[in-house]
Amino acid sequence: MPDTQTVAKTITFVLDGREVSGRVGETIIQVADREGIYIPRFCYHERLSVAANCRMCLVEVNQGKKTLPACHASISQDMVVNTKSAATKKSQQSIMEFLLINHPLDCPICDQGGQCELQDLAMGFGKGTSRYDDRKRAVVDEDLGPLVATDMTRCIHCTRCVRFGTEISGVPDLGALGRGEDMRILSYLKSGLQSEMSGNMIDLCPVGALTSKPLRYQSRSWSFINHPYYAAHDCLHSHIYVHTYDNGLEDSSSVMRVVPRRCEAVNAIWISDRDRFSYLGLQHQDRLSRPMIRDGKTWRVVDWETALTQVAEKIQMVLKDHGPEQIGALLSPNSTIEEGFICQKLLHALGCRNMDYRHHQKDTDYIDSVVHPLPVTFLDFDVLSKSDCVLLVGSHIRHEQPVASLRLRAASLGGTKVLSINPIAYDWNFECADEAVVAGQALVEFLASCIVSLADSGAVQLTDRWRERLVHVKTNAQSRRFAKVLIKSHGYIILGHYAQSHPQASIIHKLCAYISSVTKMKLVIMTPGTNSTGLHTIGFGPCHRVDSVNLSTGESSYQMIDRPKRFYLLQQTELEYDHYDASLAISALERAETVVAVTSFTSPQMLEYADILLPAACWGEFSGTWMSLLGEVNSFKAIKPLFGESKSIWKIYRVLGNMLRCDGFSYHDISELRAEIPLLQDGYVDQSASNPSEPVASPLSRHKLYVDAQPNLVRIGESDHYKIDGLVRRSEPLQALSADVVAKMHPHTAKSVFEKRVTGKQLVQVKQGRHTITCPLVIDESVALNAVQLPISGAESDLLSGRHDPVSVSLIEKDVSK
Ligand code: SF4
Ligand code: SF4
Ligand code: FES
Repeated sequence: MPDTQTVAKTITFVLDGREVSGRVGETIIQVADREGIYIPRFCYHERLSVAANCRMCLVEVNQGKKTLPACHASISQDMVVNTKSAATKKSQQSIMEFLLINHPLDCPICDQGGQCELQDLAMGFGKGTSRYDDRKRAVVDEDLGPLVATDMTRCIHCTRCVRFGTEISGVPDLGALGRGEDMRILSYLKSGLQSEMSGNMIDLCPVGALTSKPLRYQSRSWSFINHPYYAAHDCLHSHIYVHTYDNGLEDSSSVMRVVPRRCEAVNAIWISDRDRFSYLGLQHQDRLSRPMIRDGKTWRVVDWETALTQVAEKIQMVLKDHGPEQIGALLSPNSTIEEGFICQKLLHALGCRNMDYRHHQKDTDYIDSVVHPLPVTFLDFDVLSKSDCVLLVGSHIRHEQPVASLRLRAASLGGTKVLSINPIAYDWNFECADEAVVAGQALVEFLASCIVSLADSGAVQLTDRWRERLVHVKTNAQSRRFAKVLIKSHGYIILGHYAQSHPQASIIHKLCAYISSVTKMKLVIMTPGTNSTGLHTIGFGPCHRVDSVNLSTGESSYQMIDRPKRFYLLQQTELEYDHYDASLAISALERAETVVAVTSFTSPQMLEYADILLPAACWGEFSGTWMSLLGEVNSFKAIKPLFGESKSIWKIYRVLGNMLRCDGFSYHDISELRAEIPLLQDGYVDQSASNPSEPVASPLSRHKLYVDAQPNLVRIGESDHYKIDGLVRRSEPLQALSADVVAKMHPHTAKSVFEKRVTGKQLVQVKQGRHTITCPLVIDESVALNAVQLPISGAESDLLSGRHDPVSVSLIEKDVSK
């Protein structure tokens, strides 16, 4: 028997002579789309609210005198809709004529030509002639920054771009001003686009008013080859199409643009600007095209055999003279599963266990020293959307994982409460219900006070060990508020980049794991890089896993730098940007006997510290597999030729393995390598997940809870989201959006440090250890008390020490505004 409720909610009506059904509240265009009947539209978009302002979708309903907009008119029982009748056709032709009154019709010089909805609909639904011969309207263009070009004369005022900002990205970059012919789409603040998802407006704009600035006048869309692919700059792997252009000459295929590929479970139909425009770094002048060897102070180009022979000799020399513990391998977290596996196999064959990809982390004890290895909890956007609460701990999710931030925004609009514990009151694109802005030295205290608040509420019984560790911790009104929400919620605790790179990351992790174990909040670690999840899952790192127990037998990235090695292998990483302590890293590399960089790009610092440079294939040029934080295992193939003489990284290790006479490196192709990797076999089950019923132990006693020793002033040294890896760092339009290096302080902190009121127009000297830099001071109330926000710059002159370590700041009495 049919469900009576379903029957009551189903409406049957006639669409183009066919009986069709839809749900109460659906519009004609929604049912027509489902039935495969196309109704022309400009302002309507399935992901945006209905504006119904273009009238292109007018259709005849019940043979009435007036046609109705199909995007706005709801369906009703027994209605008769005709999308092909003479009345429909006449209405649509009139609207098209009206739209073209002011439209320039210069398709041959318009970047949208060939992919333009107006062009297509004018051909399909227009009259073919115009009765209008007055002068057309011309509109001044907007300067929206380096990513989006404008031709506002072509704008048809559909307001899709405006609604994207207010409804999807949560950053209302564009607005509509005026009415009728005077209406204009513009950026109110004239400060360019602020959203990290702004490129999606290019896809949404149905005409050539908003187009890709880097692609402007470069080529026509019909000459592109379409490749389904994965984005490479966060742990979610947005699904994308890469469009390449091939003029038929050898090595001529280049990436022309990147656009979203629909995937509801990951990125829906959106991608971040970082994923869209990073391809522009592929042809950067820093690309390394041939192997090179240092000759004193100069560099000599050599062939591959010479370079690899020299690498093998240097390895043999260090093994003979100093042993395998003097080798350190630092790989990018973007390395593929195959690269991580074969590199690990090679190092193990040499007896070396010093390998890591977590360069931004100082404290890795929570992975390496605990009895149970870090479980991988996958994020599920479906669960996120239905969560009561999401707690962000040390996470600037909007910049770190822009696609996840959009999901969080959608969830918060649906009622999910977002709580934040961060050192900055970030400019979120969702509503934050409660925000604890605490500096690094107070983060552990706040989390601990949330646990004590949970215990005080009677909902949680602390074990003796936990009670003993938290005995001095006081609650406050905010921690009690957090506890009240957490105890009755299900959802996620998200540990972001700041929490992971915090000097007390182990304790933060333990405290969050404890909160997770006593509530219905799942703990998710949003890792930097593309493949941290995959590398962790295959056991890449200094730990040696035996029966799901981690034994730390090698050194972490920080340890390898803190206790300098004689031989370093760097893979696709520039430690001046990527390491927790850039100065320490540079000094260790400079003192080493041999530094081999397997890299796509060189930098001025690398040319100083490296000894052998091996050109590596960059994104798009190699095959491999990544694992996302959503649990997807994504394999991909090369879509463009290798640059110069560069090689796939796994092949470099294959040759080295053979040169060093290690067993098992005679792979003919990547499939033979894949066959050895358990994660890539059908039916693989991850053994690393810890027993959920296992109680979370209290922070290890050898750790001091922060309260024992609070530094006065600490640095907040986050990575700029446009400097997170070598490719993004070479995309010039993205670099134009990168934040300036300034020291930001809360006014109260500045007053207490400088013992007077400061305006924020001065220069300051920031000192960390032996290193000092000079930069402008900015007074900003969003920064936590007792902290200085100073991002990683990577520039030679701006190298400081630990990202989140203590700093001292002194004022240079000079007003830079004059
Ligand atoms: Fe032609 Fe479309 Fe460009 Fe207008 S926006 S000039 S119709 S290609
Ligand atoms: Fe529509 Fe494009 Fe104009 Fe925005 S700029 S209102 S998307 S036509
Ligand atoms: Fe329906 Fe614009 S698409 S009014």
